[in-house]
Amino acid sequence: MSSTLKQFCYTASQRVMTGLAQELQIYPNVHYRPAGYNTARVLSLRLVGVNPHFLPKIRGMQLPLTMWAGLSDKQRIRIGWDGQGIIIEIPKPPCFWQPVTIEQLEQRHYLRRGIIATLGMGLQDEPRRINFQEATTAHVLISGLTRSGKTNTQRLIAWNLARNVDPGQSRLLIFDVAKQGHRWSDFAQVAHLAHPVITHLEEADRVLAWLAREVLRRGAQSQTSPRLFVLIDELKALIDDSPLAADHLARLAATGAEFGLHLVLATQYPQIKMLGSAELKRNLSIRLCGKVDSADAAANALGLPDTGAESLQGYGDFLLRDFNGLFRLTVARLERRHVEHLPHSEARSLDLPSLEEAHEGVQDLSRPRNEPDPLEPEQVALALFEPMGINRLAYQLGIGSTKAKRVQQFAAGIRRWALANGFTRLELDDPVPEDTDSKGVILRWPDNGQDSGRFIPAAQPYLEDIS
Ligand SMILES: Nc1ncnc2c1ncn2[C@@H]1O[C@H](COP(=O)(O)OP(=O)(O)O)[C@@H](O)[C@H]1O
Ligand SMILES: [Mg+2]
Repeated sequence: MSSTLKQFCYTASQRVMTGLAQELQIYPNVHYRPAGYNTARVLSLRLVGVNPHFLPKIRGMQLPLTMWAGLSDKQRIRIGWDGQGIIIEIPKPPCFWQPVTIEQLEQRHYLRRGIIATLGMGLQDEPRRINFQEATTAHVLISGLTRSGKTNTQRLIAWNLARNVDPGQSRLLIFDVAKQGHRWSDFAQVAHLAHPVITHLEEADRVLAWLAREVLRRGAQSQTSPRLFVLIDELKALIDDSPLAADHLARLAATGAEFGLHLVLATQYPQIKMLGSAELKRNLSIRLCGKVDSADAAANALGLPDTGAESLQGYGDFLLRDFNGLFRLTVARLERRHVEHLPHSEARSLDLPSLEEAHEGVQDLSRPRNEPDPLEPEQVALALFEPMGINRLAYQLGIGSTKAKRVQQFAAGIRRWALANGFTRLELDDPVPEDTDSKGVILRWPDNGQDSGRFIPAAQPYLEDIS
């Protein structure tokens, strides 16, 4: 370690500890044992043996502690809990960043045979992976701002799936209609590719229709191999422009994993609205989130509050949420030369249905409509707080008028209940987490005066109405 880096680590951690002592009266060796790790992008200070009750207090001090650490105003410390200790991550200035490389993963024997993607290293340089062999691992959602490293991460997943298994066991389908596949050109001759990289909308529709049929076919024959990995970069562009994508993807996510199909989707916009359906989002259970611009965006991307993803530094700095928990990792950077080492073969193509067939297929395959789809908290909240006619509600929510009517009826039920129980104010726990594990509408029902919580301005006249 260079002496300036050493000095930075020493000074920054000492300062944070002094900050904790002076501002919160939390002292080393009285309230915790300190342990420090110098990792690729951050200096991680673990407070071992600390009482978790300190966590909210320390979280509330993010800004002052950032100042204590002497960071530039572009960087923020990130505060988290790993089950045993509180972790305070102090971002290192970029001049002290250490790259995480494919070569390092190779040298440490972190790469694994099988349908396992090793992505990079965690806070203690341990390997971080997505293991598609586990029954719980189905579909992956990668989100983050531009340049957070989504495409690199997706390429790395594809690279692992081609490097670690034979083409007979894993097939890749790569979609990039927004950028016409320019970041994927090196994959063109990779032996695992089931079809050339899909860069045009019409072709994307035909491949999606093929996938829908393939899942039905596999279902009929109880076939689960080869595994099919559907990697879609810049998902929003596809959803926005293709009339079929949202519906197909929702169904592929719901039923595909059972028959060996996995979605790996990358987007800057992980909100349900942008993904086209709540159903799709629910089934994207493995989440990777790079730098985002707010705590809300982080909660939306990971389905968890208070992860601190808004304090990540971009360029491959990610949080991984899987069934074991939430982990910080630095993703390795994949270069063209790594892709060149993969097994290559002549490009092959799927026998795709025609565009007409693809569009017809949607009618035939669409899910039975007799069971109404669930209402979303956001929808009910709008009906509750901004009274309006059915048509306007339908328009604002982008839903049909039958569904808008159900939304209104549900909201009216809540309102009646509130009145019958003597509440004079309805309040929404704002912002509505779109993606918590619990279902239903999250509302708070304060019964006292102005000071508790806050009003949503647009809702105010309406709420006075019912008081
Ligand atoms: N894991 C990484 N390590 C180092 N640099 C990275 C990493 N991932 C991305 N970058 C840098 O960030 C830039 C943007 O990455 P990219 O994957 O294209 O982001 P996104 O798809 O989120 O816009 C890349 O050109 C690269 O320079
Ligand atoms: Mg990208």
